[in-house]
Amino acid sequence: MEKIIDESKQGEQLITQNKNGNTRKLFIESYGCQMNFADSEVVASILANDGFDTTKNLEEADLVLVNTCSIRDKAEQTIRKRLEKYNAVKRDHNPKMKVGVLGCMAERLKEKFLEEEKIVDLVVGPDAYKDLPNLITDVEGGQNAVNVILSKEETYGDISPVRLHSNGVTAFVSITRGCDNMCTFCVVPFTRGRERSRDPQSIFKEITDLTEKGFKEITLLGQNVDSYLWYGGGLKKDFKNAPEIQKATSVDFSSLLNTVATKFPKLRIRFSTSNPQDMSMDVVHTMAKHRNICKHIHLPVQSGSNRILKEMNRQHTREEYMALVDNIYKTIPEISLTQDMIIGFPTETEEDHNDTLELIKYVKYDHGFMFSYSERPGTMAGRKMEDDVPLAVKKRRLQEVIDTQRAVGHERLKLHLGKTEEVLIETTSKKSDAHWAGRNSQGSMVVFPKENYKIGDFVNVKINDCTTATFLGDAVGYSDNN
Ligand code: SAH
Ligand code: F3S
Repeated sequence: MEKIIDESKQGEQLITQNKNGNTRKLFIESYGCQMNFADSEVVASILANDGFDTTKNLEEADLVLVNTCSIRDKAEQTIRKRLEKYNAVKRDHNPKMKVGVLGCMAERLKEKFLEEEKIVDLVVGPDAYKDLPNLITDVEGGQNAVNVILSKEETYGDISPVRLHSNGVTAFVSITRGCDNMCTFCVVPFTRGRERSRDPQSIFKEITDLTEKGFKEITLLGQNVDSYLWYGGGLKKDFKNAPEIQKATSVDFSSLLNTVATKFPKLRIRFSTSNPQDMSMDVVHTMAKHRNICKHIHLPVQSGSNRILKEMNRQHTREEYMALVDNIYKTIPEISLTQDMIIGFPTETEEDHNDTLELIKYVKYDHGFMFSYSERPGTMAGRKMEDDVPLAVKKRRLQEVIDTQRAVGHERLKLHLGKTEEVLIETTSKKSDAHWAGRNSQGSMVVFPKENYKIGDFVNVKINDCTTATFLGDAVGYSDNN
């Protein structure tokens, strides 16, 4: 799910309103997936209650926190470069500044971070953010502090995140944390721990709060939203071995989605990410039933080859995936599907690669997020398999995959031309002050002249043209969702 945060947002800082009595200054920025961005809002909320206001100015910060990503080596290198920058600011302008790392790199490297990066005073993993006030007290007393203990329970369901990453229109709501799937390439199960689901009541409360503040769209977030399961109290440890003990009060993802869509009929609802092995047709039927659930599924497959899927420990075959896709299109023909692909996984042959290209042509994804395999220390593939596809081959195959995706994506996007679609205005277009930008139900960006519409309006827009990823159109009036 990590590429959905667009590149321009990487490193985005968080600014909160000043709170009476707060005296210390926090500079916090986020890299990586949507979950990291959502977590930073939880952290800012915890620290607002501990005497910190946020600042965008490194030179005046008492505390700098960076929420980090470990998914590929390049993500970690980006963070190391940021630490060099903090170092320079500390040396030249702000000797009192303390530096903490949060997120997946903190969890992966633990105490080693303190040795490898002298600038770092504080290392805090994704399940330990409530301990931040104590750890900061240690740091201010001149000690280094580390808490990287993963939890089986923590969901931060009781913390109301500050919403200031946001445009005031769209927000993230976490519903699960962690992942139990153990794909062999993936560091997430090691850095974010066991899968756990958040109490539905706390989810409804957070969404109510968002709607009262005027938010119009939420994205339910989890590494694996389809395995959301709230047990209705008790018996949960035995659930997987003895499904018959599931309580009538338990809530799975399709019923959560159904309840949210019913309770909040004017709210647009998105979700991410769906692992194909856990995605059920119940979810698809729920999507079909509710107009306010957006018609988009991010359905990463990683490879089109059965042999590679097996090596990756993905629990489905190419054929099962294709059957799922067929059923989804049959139920919701206008749906957009998007993918993540890993190119050049160990032992990948030309034949495996061709299977990936063919699968993309079969599914006709609207968009995709495609990256070369990056070996991650500690993962099963990192330990047991040699990263044996040469860089030049990875690069060539990646380009072929990107070109194939672009071609099928364009074919899908063209189907929207001439149609009138509901768009939720999020922001001014990056390219023109005279245009709004917002997304249609399928999640594609639509840009159109501003006229008298404003941010947060649902507008019907006639789609006239498309570039590789964006539609251009003209508003024809408000939609009836306002
Ligand atoms: N939970 C999501 C994925 C989370 S990680 C799922 O079910 O698929 C986000 C994406 O990062 C993955 O889909 C994968 O395409 C990519 N990724 C993860 N580990 C990687 C690695 N070692 N090298 C390259 N890409 C990787
Ligand atoms: Fe990673 Fe696979 Fe979970 S990609 S996040 S281990 S579903």
